[in-house]
Amino acid sequence: MSGNDTARGTGVAHGKVILLGEHSVVYGRPALAAGLPRGATASAEDAERSVLRVEPWGVEVPADPSAEKSLTRAFAALLARMDVRRAVRVDAQVFLPGGSGLGSSAALGVAVMRAIDDLRGVARADDDALACSLAWERVFHGNPSGVDSAMALHGGCGWYVRGEALARVHPRHGVTLVVGDSGESCSTRITVEQVARQHEGHPARLERTFDAIAAVVRNGRLALEAGDMRALGQLFDMNQSLLAGMLLSTATLEDMIHAARAAGAAGAKLTGGGGGGCMIAVVQDPEQATAVKDAIEALGKRAFVATVGGPA
Ligand code: PMV
Repeated sequence: MSGNDTARGTGVAHGKVILLGEHSVVYGRPALAAGLPRGATASAEDAERSVLRVEPWGVEVPADPSAEKSLTRAFAALLARMDVRRAVRVDAQVFLPGGSGLGSSAALGVAVMRAIDDLRGVARADDDALACSLAWERVFHGNPSGVDSAMALHGGCGWYVRGEALARVHPRHGVTLVVGDSGESCSTRITVEQVARQHEGHPARLERTFDAIAAVVRNGRLALEAGDMRALGQLFDMNQSLLAGMLLSTATLEDMIHAARAAGAAGAKLTGGGGGGCMIAVVQDPEQATAVKDAIEALGKRAFVATVGGPA
Protein backbone atom coordinates (compact mmCIF):
# COMPACT_ATOMS: atom_id res chain seq x y z
CA MET A 1 0.00 0.00 0.00
CA SER A 2 1.26 3.50 -0.76
CA GLY A 3 0.15 7.14 -0.34
CA ASN A 4 0.02 9.59 2.55
CA ASP A 5 -3.49 10.85 3.38
CA THR A 6 -5.62 8.32 1.54
CA ALA A 7 -4.88 4.63 1.80
CA ARG A 8 -4.15 3.44 -1.72
CA GLY A 9 -3.34 0.08 -3.25
CA THR A 10 -1.54 -0.40 -6.54
CA GLY A 11 -1.37 -3.22 -9.08
CA VAL A 12 0.41 -3.99 -12.34
CA ALA A 13 -0.07 -6.72 -14.95
CA HIS A 14 1.54 -7.86 -18.20
CA GLY A 15 0.24 -7.86 -21.72
CA LYS A 16 1.13 -10.91 -23.78
CA VAL A 17 1.74 -12.30 -27.20
CA ILE A 18 0.78 -15.84 -28.08
CA LEU A 19 3.85 -17.17 -29.87
CA LEU A 20 2.15 -20.36 -31.01
CA GLY A 21 -1.12 -22.20 -30.32
CA GLU A 22 -3.99 -19.67 -30.11
CA HIS A 23 -7.48 -21.17 -30.54
CA SER A 24 -6.31 -24.81 -30.31
CA VAL A 25 -5.51 -23.92 -26.66
CA VAL A 26 -9.27 -23.52 -26.10
CA TYR A 27 -9.55 -27.24 -27.04
CA GLY A 28 -6.97 -28.53 -24.59
CA ARG A 29 -3.84 -28.24 -26.76
CA PRO A 30 -0.75 -26.39 -25.48
CA ALA A 31 0.13 -22.78 -26.29
CA LEU A 32 3.41 -20.91 -25.96
CA ALA A 33 3.05 -17.31 -24.82
CA ALA A 34 5.33 -14.51 -23.71
CA GLY A 35 4.60 -11.55 -21.47
CA LEU A 36 4.98 -8.00 -22.74
CA PRO A 37 6.55 -5.74 -20.13
CA ARG A 38 3.84 -3.07 -20.41
CA GLY A 39 0.26 -4.19 -19.84
CA ALA A 40 -1.84 -2.28 -17.35
CA THR A 41 -1.53 -0.52 -14.01
CA ALA A 42 -4.19 0.37 -11.43
CA SER A 43 -4.61 2.18 -8.15
CA ALA A 44 -7.45 1.60 -5.67
CA GLU A 45 -8.89 3.48 -2.70
CA ASP A 46 -11.95 3.17 -0.48
CA ALA A 47 -15.02 4.99 -1.81
CA GLU A 48 -18.74 5.49 -1.21
CA ARG A 49 -19.67 3.42 -4.24
CA SER A 50 -17.59 1.14 -6.44
CA VAL A 51 -16.36 2.68 -9.66
CA LEU A 52 -13.70 1.80 -12.25
CA ARG A 53 -12.09 4.45 -14.43
CA VAL A 54 -9.92 3.36 -17.38
CA GLU A 55 -7.51 5.53 -19.32
CA PRO A 56 -6.76 6.13 -22.16
CA TRP A 57 -10.27 4.90 -23.01
CA GLY A 58 -11.80 7.74 -20.95
CA VAL A 59 -14.49 5.47 -19.48
CA GLU A 60 -15.82 5.31 -15.94
CA VAL A 61 -18.19 2.50 -14.95
CA PRO A 62 -19.94 1.30 -11.80
CA ALA A 63 -20.10 -2.39 -10.83
CA ASP A 64 -23.42 -3.74 -12.13
CA PRO A 65 -23.91 -7.40 -13.09
CA SER A 66 -26.96 -6.65 -15.25
CA ALA A 67 -25.58 -3.64 -17.18
CA GLU A 68 -25.33 -3.70 -20.96
CA LYS A 69 -21.67 -2.60 -21.04
CA SER A 70 -19.25 -5.52 -20.71
CA LEU A 71 -16.74 -3.53 -18.64
CA THR A 72 -19.46 -2.75 -16.04
CA ARG A 73 -20.43 -6.43 -15.80
CA ALA A 74 -16.80 -7.57 -15.74
CA PHE A 75 -16.04 -5.20 -12.84
CA ALA A 76 -19.08 -6.56 -10.96
CA ALA A 77 -18.04 -10.17 -11.70
CA LEU A 78 -14.50 -9.51 -10.47
CA LEU A 79 -15.61 -7.83 -7.22
CA ALA A 80 -18.06 -10.67 -6.55
CA ARG A 81 -15.48 -13.41 -7.19
CA MET A 82 -12.89 -11.54 -5.07
CA ASP A 83 -15.49 -11.22 -2.31
CA VAL A 84 -14.98 -7.44 -2.08
CA ARG A 85 -17.58 -6.20 0.40
CA ARG A 86 -16.63 -2.54 0.82
CA ALA A 87 -16.94 -0.07 -2.06
CA VAL A 88 -13.73 0.74 -3.91
CA ARG A 89 -12.64 3.26 -6.51
CA VAL A 90 -10.11 2.02 -9.05
CA ASP A 91 -8.21 4.17 -11.54
CA ALA A 92 -6.54 2.08 -14.21
CA GLN A 93 -4.33 2.67 -17.20
CA VAL A 94 -4.01 0.29 -20.16
CA PHE A 95 -0.89 0.46 -22.32
CA LEU A 96 -2.08 -1.90 -25.07
CA PRO A 97 -4.50 -1.43 -27.94
CA GLY A 98 -7.84 -3.12 -27.14
CA GLY A 99 -9.21 -5.98 -29.30
CA SER A 100 -5.81 -6.52 -30.83
CA GLY A 101 -4.74 -9.90 -29.47
CA LEU A 102 -2.26 -8.53 -26.91
CA GLY A 103 -4.30 -9.49 -23.86
CA SER A 104 -5.45 -5.99 -22.87
CA SER A 105 -8.60 -7.12 -21.08
CA ALA A 106 -6.81 -9.74 -18.97
CA ALA A 107 -4.05 -7.25 -18.10
CA LEU A 108 -6.64 -4.69 -17.01
CA GLY A 109 -8.54 -7.23 -14.87
CA VAL A 110 -5.38 -8.46 -13.15
CA ALA A 111 -4.10 -4.92 -12.46
CA VAL A 112 -7.50 -3.99 -10.95
CA MET A 113 -7.54 -7.13 -8.80
CA ARG A 114 -3.99 -6.56 -7.57
CA ALA A 115 -4.68 -2.92 -6.69
CA ILE A 116 -7.71 -3.89 -4.60
CA ASP A 117 -5.86 -6.76 -2.91
CA ASP A 118 -2.98 -4.39 -2.15
CA LEU A 119 -5.38 -1.84 -0.65
CA ARG A 120 -7.01 -4.47 1.57
CA GLY A 121 -3.83 -6.37 2.40
CA VAL A 122 -5.02 -9.61 0.77
CA ALA A 123 -2.35 -12.11 -0.36
CA ARG A 124 -4.15 -14.25 -2.92
CA ALA A 125 -2.88 -17.69 -3.96
CA ASP A 126 -2.03 -18.13 -7.68
CA ASP A 127 -4.97 -20.44 -8.46
CA ASP A 128 -7.42 -18.09 -6.72
CA ALA A 129 -5.99 -15.09 -8.62
CA LEU A 130 -6.42 -17.00 -11.90
CA ALA A 131 -10.03 -17.86 -10.99
CA CYS A 132 -10.77 -14.19 -10.22
CA SER A 133 -9.24 -13.08 -13.50
CA LEU A 134 -11.28 -15.71 -15.36
CA ALA A 135 -14.51 -14.42 -13.81
CA TRP A 136 -13.62 -11.04 -15.39
CA GLU A 137 -12.45 -12.52 -18.72
CA ARG A 138 -15.58 -14.68 -19.20
CA VAL A 139 -17.64 -11.50 -19.52
CA PHE A 140 -15.56 -10.43 -22.53
CA HIS A 141 -14.60 -13.76 -24.09
CA GLY A 142 -17.32 -16.25 -23.15
CA ASN A 143 -15.01 -19.29 -23.10
CA PRO A 144 -11.46 -18.15 -22.31
CA SER A 145 -8.75 -20.81 -22.14
CA GLY A 146 -7.05 -18.84 -19.37
CA VAL A 147 -3.79 -18.25 -21.24
CA ASP A 148 -4.25 -14.46 -21.23
CA SER A 149 -4.98 -14.45 -17.49
CA ALA A 150 -2.00 -16.67 -16.69
CA MET A 151 0.33 -14.45 -18.71
CA ALA A 152 -1.12 -11.23 -17.27
CA LEU A 153 -0.39 -12.63 -13.81
CA HIS A 154 3.05 -14.09 -14.39
CA GLY A 155 4.68 -12.62 -17.54
CA GLY A 156 7.90 -14.32 -18.69
CA CYS A 157 7.62 -17.13 -21.19
CA GLY A 158 5.09 -19.86 -20.53
CA TRP A 159 3.67 -23.18 -21.72
CA TYR A 160 -0.02 -23.18 -21.06
CA VAL A 161 -2.53 -26.05 -21.10
CA ARG A 162 -6.10 -25.29 -20.10
CA GLY A 163 -6.82 -26.31 -16.51
CA GLU A 164 -3.13 -26.71 -15.62
CA ALA A 165 -0.75 -24.30 -13.93
CA LEU A 166 1.40 -22.25 -16.29
CA ALA A 167 4.76 -23.98 -16.83
CA ARG A 168 7.80 -21.77 -17.24
CA VAL A 169 9.75 -22.06 -20.49
CA HIS A 170 13.38 -20.95 -20.51
CA PRO A 171 14.41 -19.71 -23.95
CA ARG A 172 18.13 -19.90 -24.63
CA HIS A 173 18.04 -16.15 -25.25
CA GLY A 174 15.51 -13.36 -25.67
CA VAL A 175 13.27 -13.53 -28.74
CA THR A 176 13.07 -10.32 -30.76
CA LEU A 177 9.64 -9.80 -32.23
CA VAL A 178 8.17 -7.08 -34.40
CA VAL A 179 4.54 -6.62 -33.41
CA GLY A 180 2.34 -5.01 -36.06
CA ASP A 181 -1.19 -3.76 -35.41
CA SER A 182 -3.60 -4.15 -38.35
CA GLY A 183 -5.77 -1.44 -36.80
CA GLU A 184 -8.78 -3.71 -37.39
CA SER A 185 -10.10 -4.66 -33.99
CA CYS A 186 -12.00 -7.89 -33.59
CA SER A 187 -13.51 -9.37 -30.48
CA THR A 188 -11.90 -12.64 -29.39
CA ARG A 189 -15.37 -13.80 -28.37
CA ILE A 190 -16.44 -13.63 -32.04
CA THR A 191 -13.47 -15.57 -33.46
CA VAL A 192 -13.67 -18.16 -30.66
CA GLU A 193 -17.36 -18.64 -31.54
CA GLN A 194 -16.50 -18.92 -35.26
CA VAL A 195 -14.04 -21.71 -34.52
CA ALA A 196 -16.62 -23.38 -32.24
CA ARG A 197 -19.14 -23.40 -35.11
CA GLN A 198 -16.54 -24.93 -37.47
CA HIS A 199 -15.75 -27.51 -34.80
CA GLU A 200 -19.43 -28.37 -34.45
CA GLY A 201 -19.80 -28.77 -38.21
CA HIS A 202 -16.55 -30.64 -38.90
CA PRO A 203 -15.22 -32.03 -35.62
CA ALA A 204 -12.75 -34.52 -37.12
CA ARG A 205 -11.17 -31.93 -39.45
CA LEU A 206 -10.84 -29.35 -36.70
CA GLU A 207 -9.38 -31.89 -34.27
CA ARG A 208 -6.74 -32.78 -36.90
CA THR A 209 -5.90 -29.09 -37.30
CA PHE A 210 -5.61 -28.68 -33.51
CA ASP A 211 -3.31 -31.72 -33.36
CA ALA A 212 -1.15 -30.26 -36.14
CA ILE A 213 -0.92 -26.97 -34.23
CA ALA A 214 -0.02 -28.87 -31.04
CA ALA A 215 2.92 -30.49 -32.90
CA VAL A 216 4.03 -27.02 -34.06
CA VAL A 217 3.82 -25.73 -30.47
CA ARG A 218 5.89 -28.64 -29.10
CA ASN A 219 8.57 -28.00 -31.73
CA GLY A 220 8.38 -24.30 -30.94
CA ARG A 221 9.30 -24.99 -27.35
CA LEU A 222 12.36 -26.96 -28.49
CA ALA A 223 13.34 -24.14 -30.87
CA LEU A 224 13.04 -21.58 -28.07
CA GLU A 225 15.08 -23.69 -25.68
CA ALA A 226 17.73 -24.22 -28.36
CA GLY A 227 17.71 -20.53 -29.32
CA ASP A 228 16.99 -21.52 -32.95
CA MET A 229 15.15 -18.48 -34.35
CA ARG A 230 15.13 -19.79 -37.93
CA ALA A 231 13.25 -22.90 -36.80
CA LEU A 232 10.93 -20.77 -34.68
CA GLY A 233 10.23 -18.62 -37.74
CA GLN A 234 9.33 -21.66 -39.85
CA LEU A 235 6.97 -22.78 -37.09
CA PHE A 236 5.36 -19.31 -37.05
CA ASP A 237 4.72 -19.72 -40.78
CA MET A 238 3.22 -23.21 -40.33
CA ASN A 239 0.99 -22.02 -37.50
CA GLN A 240 -0.14 -19.09 -39.66
CA SER A 241 -1.18 -21.46 -42.50
CA LEU A 242 -3.20 -23.56 -40.08
CA LEU A 243 -4.88 -20.46 -38.58
CA ALA A 244 -5.63 -19.08 -42.06
CA GLY A 245 -7.21 -22.46 -42.87
CA MET A 246 -9.67 -21.75 -40.06
CA LEU A 247 -10.44 -18.36 -41.69
CA LEU A 248 -8.87 -16.41 -38.83
CA SER A 249 -6.56 -14.27 -40.93
CA THR A 250 -7.55 -11.17 -42.93
CA ALA A 251 -6.28 -9.56 -46.12
CA THR A 252 -4.59 -6.82 -44.06
CA LEU A 253 -2.88 -9.31 -41.75
CA GLU A 254 -1.73 -11.34 -44.78
CA ASP A 255 -0.25 -8.21 -46.39
CA MET A 256 1.61 -7.37 -43.18
CA ILE A 257 2.86 -10.95 -42.74
CA HIS A 258 4.10 -11.11 -46.34
CA ALA A 259 5.79 -7.72 -46.00
CA ALA A 260 7.55 -8.91 -42.82
CA ARG A 261 8.79 -12.09 -44.49
CA ALA A 262 9.95 -10.16 -47.59
CA ALA A 263 11.89 -7.77 -45.31
CA GLY A 264 13.83 -10.70 -43.87
CA ALA A 265 11.79 -11.97 -40.90
CA ALA A 266 12.44 -15.61 -40.05
CA GLY A 267 8.66 -16.11 -39.93
CA ALA A 268 5.42 -14.30 -39.15
CA LYS A 269 1.88 -15.01 -38.00
CA LEU A 270 -1.19 -13.44 -36.49
CA THR A 271 -1.28 -13.46 -32.70
CA GLY A 272 -4.29 -13.81 -30.40
CA GLY A 273 -7.86 -14.14 -31.55
CA GLY A 274 -7.28 -13.05 -35.18
CA GLY A 275 -9.95 -11.67 -37.50
CA GLY A 276 -7.88 -8.46 -37.22
CA GLY A 277 -5.69 -7.37 -34.34
CA CYS A 278 -1.94 -7.91 -34.33
CA MET A 279 0.65 -10.00 -36.13
CA ILE A 280 4.12 -10.93 -34.89
CA ALA A 281 7.32 -11.53 -36.84
CA VAL A 282 10.41 -13.15 -35.36
CA VAL A 283 13.74 -11.60 -36.38
CA GLN A 284 17.35 -12.60 -35.81
CA ASP A 285 19.09 -9.29 -35.26
CA PRO A 286 18.39 -5.57 -34.68
CA GLU A 287 18.94 -4.65 -38.38
CA GLN A 288 16.28 -7.17 -39.41
CA ALA A 289 13.97 -5.78 -36.71
CA THR A 290 14.32 -2.28 -38.16
CA ALA A 291 13.77 -3.50 -41.73
CA VAL A 292 10.65 -5.46 -40.76
CA LYS A 293 9.23 -2.62 -38.67
CA ASP A 294 9.82 -0.21 -41.59
CA ALA A 295 8.12 -2.61 -44.01
CA ILE A 296 5.01 -2.82 -41.82
CA GLU A 297 4.93 0.93 -41.30
CA ALA A 298 5.22 1.41 -45.07
CA LEU A 299 1.80 -0.26 -45.25
CA GLY A 300 0.47 2.51 -42.98
CA LYS A 301 0.34 0.26 -39.89
CA ARG A 302 1.78 0.73 -36.44
CA ALA A 303 4.59 -1.57 -35.33
CA PHE A 304 6.91 -1.91 -32.36
CA VAL A 305 9.85 -4.12 -31.47
CA ALA A 306 9.69 -6.21 -28.28
CA THR A 307 12.22 -8.62 -26.86
CA VAL A 308 10.42 -11.33 -24.92
CA GLY A 309 11.37 -14.42 -22.99
CA GLY A 310 14.87 -13.30 -22.03
CA PRO A 311 16.34 -14.07 -18.62
CA ALA A 312 14.14 -12.50 -15.92
O1 PMV B 1 -7.20 -12.18 -28.59
P1 PMV B 1 -6.59 -12.50 -27.26
O2 PMV B 1 -5.40 -11.72 -26.93
O3 PMV B 1 -7.60 -12.44 -26.17
O4 PMV B 1 -6.07 -14.02 -27.33
C1 PMV B 1 -7.00 -15.05 -27.21
C2 PMV B 1 -6.39 -16.41 -27.41
C3 PMV B 1 -7.42 -17.45 -27.87
O5 PMV B 1 -6.72 -18.68 -27.89
C4 PMV B 1 -7.93 -17.13 -29.27
C5 PMV B 1 -8.62 -17.55 -26.94
C6 PMV B 1 -8.30 -18.13 -25.58
O6 PMV B 1 -9.12 -17.93 -24.67
O7 PMV B 1 -7.27 -18.80 -25.42
